[in-house]
Amino acid sequence: MRYLTFALAKGRLAKKTLEILEQIGFTCDEMKDPDSRKLIFVNEEQKIKIFLAKATDVPTYVEYGAADIGVVGRDTILEEGRKLYEVIDLGLGKCRMCVAGPKEAKELLQHGELIRVATKYPNIAKDYFYNKKHQTVEIIKLNGSIELAPIVGLSEVIVDIVETGSTLRENGLDVLEEICTLSARMVVNQVSMKMEHERITKLISDLREVLSRN
Ligand code: PRP
Repeated sequence: MRYLTFALAKGRLAKKTLEILEQIGFTCDEMKDPDSRKLIFVNEEQKIKIFLAKATDVPTYVEYGAADIGVVGRDTILEEGRKLYEVIDLGLGKCRMCVAGPKEAKELLQHGELIRVATKYPNIAKDYFYNKKHQTVEIIKLNGSIELAPIVGLSEVIVDIVETGSTLRENGLDVLEEICTLSARMVVNQVSMKMEHERITKLISDLREVLSRN
């Protein structure tokens, strides 16, 4: 039997995903050592490998088949636009992708004005403004602390993740429009889905059962 390889997004999501995988019988005790800097773990008995990658790279590993299966946020899946199958909503890390900014910017959105949009997610922002709203905007790519952009005058609005809303609130910004809801998803390589059909379908149905119980 060949190894089934999982790519998990490093951090809190990987930890929670492991807890779920444990419930369906996949174990990897070696991964629980908080001081370990190891990136890949093998369970010889169950013929599985689990590796930890940067979240934005997970869809790449899965598209190229370096991982059969990946677990990553829907924000990353949408932004990366890779060819893969999205098979399960794990319901972890629920949040929303929103257009946010100062209250006054709402009018600029309603009148379809040429505005600047700062974001870590240029593809999601482009798709929303160009294809859904048919509004021409200038997209400015940033790498973090996006909420700063409208405060310091870099852009009129931002496209960003809102979870509790406290970052927006504490910086005097509001949600102006909601783009979509987000949560962690399991994705599968398209060839693996055919070659390892039995194992992967069993994994999906076991996961569905565990998730319905939680
Ligand atoms: C994310 C996101 C928001 C914040 C939303 O940032 O970009 O800034 O969390 O969470 P909240 O609604 O609960 O306040 P992250 O912490 O990932 O850091 P970043 O600034 O580097 O993107």
